Amino acid sequence: METLETEVIFLKRLEKIPITKGSFLFYDSIFEKKYPKFLKTFPNKIALKSGEKLKSLESIRDVLPLALKATGGLPCAEITFLSFGGGSVGDFVGFLASIYKRGVGLVHIPSTALAAMDSSHGGKTALNFLDIKNQLGTFYPAKHVFIVAEVIDQLPSSNIQEAWGEVLKMGLISGGSLWKKIDQNFWLVLPDLVSAKMRIVAKDPFEKKGLRRVLNLGHSVGHVLESRLSLPHGKAVFFGVLFALDWSLKKKYLSQIEYEKIKILILAAPQMSQAFHQKRTFLNLVSNPHFELLQDKKLVSPHKIEETFILKPGKVVREKISIQMFKNEWKRQACV
Ligand SMILES: NC(=O)c1ccc[n+]([C@@H]2O[C@H](COP(=O)([O-])OP(=O)(O)OC[C@H]3O[C@@H](n4cnc5c(N)ncnc54)[C@H](O)[C@@H]3O)[C@@H](O)[C@H]2O)c1
Ligand SMILES: [Zn+2]
Repeated sequence: METLETEVIFLKRLEKIPITKGSFLFYDSIFEKKYPKFLKTFPNKIALKSGEKLKSLESIRDVLPLALKATGGLPCAEITFLSFGGGSVGDFVGFLASIYKRGVGLVHIPSTALAAMDSSHGGKTALNFLDIKNQLGTFYPAKHVFIVAEVIDQLPSSNIQEAWGEVLKMGLISGGSLWKKIDQNFWLVLPDLVSAKMRIVAKDPFEKKGLRRVLNLGHSVGHVLESRLSLPHGKAVFFGVLFALDWSLKKKYLSQIEYEKIKILILAAPQMSQAFHQKRTFLNLVSNPHFELLQDKKLVSPHKIEETFILKPGKVVREKISIQMFKNEWKRQACV
């Protein structure tokens, strides 16, 4: 497989999603009450409890018998697994689809802001192992990603708030027109966020050339905060991006003028301004991030992590940084 070919389709209503004989729906159990009519249209389905525990080998073992029973007798080419949920459901179902009978069809119906803009695109699947995040995984793109207005419009504002770290990240990486409208309504900016991610993924679909790694902006710090403090992924990434901005300024990658311009935009956006001043507090809650940094998938040589720094919106640079330097910077930012 040389490319990741996914078709992203924006729909108004869930009922427009095509169902075939081989469709098997895996959905977040919170939808039992919210979308009963849609769920009823699937003869084969299973409810999943979303969250990090779902992304485990134990869950694979639990759901496999049902999948085997429901799809028995069907040729592989006719089987499609659909995920209807946030990033945890998508990561789990994506992984399962990639290994089940050596790969069956995959469709994502993202139901959180983070899944709609980020996790359902780009073909990465993941399970956690021994409580360490995303240690098992495959590259397995969905055939289709259906982004449904009926679902995204009903999201609680707290959910959109949680994705804001990823929104800020994409805006800083892409720059241009996306950066200019970064503080607008999520639904309006969503198509641009998706295309921006897919443009980067297309240059390096299987992360072989390193080009895709810029998407990890803010994620080393983000993953530490996420696993130590159980912060939602997007919120943890938000602080990670702020960390990268301050470090970029210190290393003189970013000029003071550019830094101030970015800060003005962040503070003007209600979704981000509240959390802006909390970074130091959260960094202070982790005394030593050593263990998590060693597990980081951006580790490029023993004790070195590849980090992404910001020159200005639309221009970023990657640099290998020793874990010791990382820890020093953590201490510095926790104090200032
Ligand atoms: N594969 C990738 O490229 C990629 C990228 C980024 C993040 N991720 C993964 O995504 C996960 C985080 O994503 P997430 O926050 O979407 O996870 P999630 O699936 O755990 O959902 C978060 C919460 O939102 C609830 N929820 C889901 N849909 C809802 C809706 N429509 N209305 C109200 N509540 C709803 C869920 O029940 C859950 O409580 C992490 O496991 C992260 O590692 C993967
Ligand atoms: Zn992320």
